[in-house]
Amino acid sequence: MAIKIAVIGTGYVGISTCVGLSDFGNIVVGFDIDDNKIKRLSSGDPVIYENGMEYYLKKNLETGRLSFTSDFKVALKDAEVVFLAVGTPEREDGSADLSQIKSALDAIAEIIDRPLVIVTKSTVPAGTNRWINDYMSSKVDENLFEVVSNPEFLREGKAIHDFFHPDRVVIGTKDGKENPIMRDIYRSLYLIETPFIWCNWETAELIKYASNAFLATKITFINQMANLAEEMGADIHKIAKAMGMDGRISSKFLHPGPGYGGSCFPKDTKALAKTGRKVGVVMSLIEEVISSNETQKERMIEKAKRLLENNISDKKVAVLGLAFKAETDDIRESPAITIVKGFLKEGVKISAHDPKAVENFKKLFPYVEYYDNAYDACKNANLVIICTEWNDYRNLDLDEISRNVKEKKILDLRNVLDPESAIKKGFVYEGVGRKG
Ligand code: UGA
Repeated sequence: MAIKIAVIGTGYVGISTCVGLSDFGNIVVGFDIDDNKIKRLSSGDPVIYENGMEYYLKKNLETGRLSFTSDFKVALKDAEVVFLAVGTPEREDGSADLSQIKSALDAIAEIIDRPLVIVTKSTVPAGTNRWINDYMSSKVDENLFEVVSNPEFLREGKAIHDFFHPDRVVIGTKDGKENPIMRDIYRSLYLIETPFIWCNWETAELIKYASNAFLATKITFINQMANLAEEMGADIHKIAKAMGMDGRISSKFLHPGPGYGGSCFPKDTKALAKTGRKVGVVMSLIEEVISSNETQKERMIEKAKRLLENNISDKKVAVLGLAFKAETDDIRESPAITIVKGFLKEGVKISAHDPKAVENFKKLFPYVEYYDNAYDACKNANLVIICTEWNDYRNLDLDEISRNVKEKKILDLRNVLDPESAIKKGFVYEGVGRKG
């Protein structure tokens, strides 16, 4: 039987949850306070750039299983389950800001009149679901609600694939026992034998943070190794490949680069470190990862300056790739931000290209020159920096670049080009963790 679900918040996770759960056969109403967003979503425009999202959004709108509203009461009207997918942004002190969660709970408490399962999808620090339970208990009858933690593990750029094919589904309940309604919501995943982890709230919360922090640590490790390889004349790709062949290590997330970015790793590592400090457990490894990742981004600026022979006045740098990773228009915590900011501060002229993220970047840096094509962005540049691993850049025509640039210098922060062919064509080439 179809379960009636409300999803509060239509950010990345919220939209994916709406689309995914309705595709599983549930009746889903997505809520957001942003009227304009609701109009766009209702007309089949996914608002974010995400491969396959438009198709699944339109498909489920057409079946009538999915709808959107900016009226909270309408969203909650028939709901048996409400998913909280609101933002939990980073506060200045690194802790997670839970005010949007609190507002949603206040709104639920005002109208709840029959049993409702409250599911936390947003990434929230350990202890939050227990707090949600206590907070709701202070406002309404305990028999009216049940709190469930259900963290999300999808990656931007692969959201649809990850939602339909997760490695695992983690569900935290008060007593750590199975919850039938949650199993029914995800029945499609149950049928394809996706592993379900039933645990208590705190375990579910920490699984989410531990997974993200571990992946961020893996990237930071390989970035530090890359820096060493560079100095020692070794090739980080061969090192990573050989390491990855050891099944205990695995080859995933061993790709060196300008430092991790995005809306999750930077925020979640800081929140985890903060949680540790709060309860007297110093997460020294994670704290080191956080600062090392910042150093990595700064190191990229130093590399670029060295290539410009430390003489940067009147120079022009072309930045190819502004998104924090390929296949998304998201620029949150993108290494390109640190690099562009660093150069603009010193009076360097920046021209830029990105297949999808220009509009978002423009809001932060209106004075950068933006181009629709990478070759135009390279015109008269003294240095070309590749910041994002878009496929478009893997096959750049270096002859065309040669004709456009002022100096033939490439800093390839994602190692997408073949160093040998770049050098053969007369470029000064530098990647990360391998000498050109
Ligand atoms: C990450 C996790 O991978 C998801 O499992 C999780 O659900 C999500 O955070 C979240 O908490 O919502 P996402 O931030 O979308 O997903 O992107 P990733 O593919 O993990 O990449 C994060 C950053 O690490 C990017 O800047 C990427 O360029 C960088 N990265 C990734 C590397 O530098 N090297 C790698 O080998 C892999």
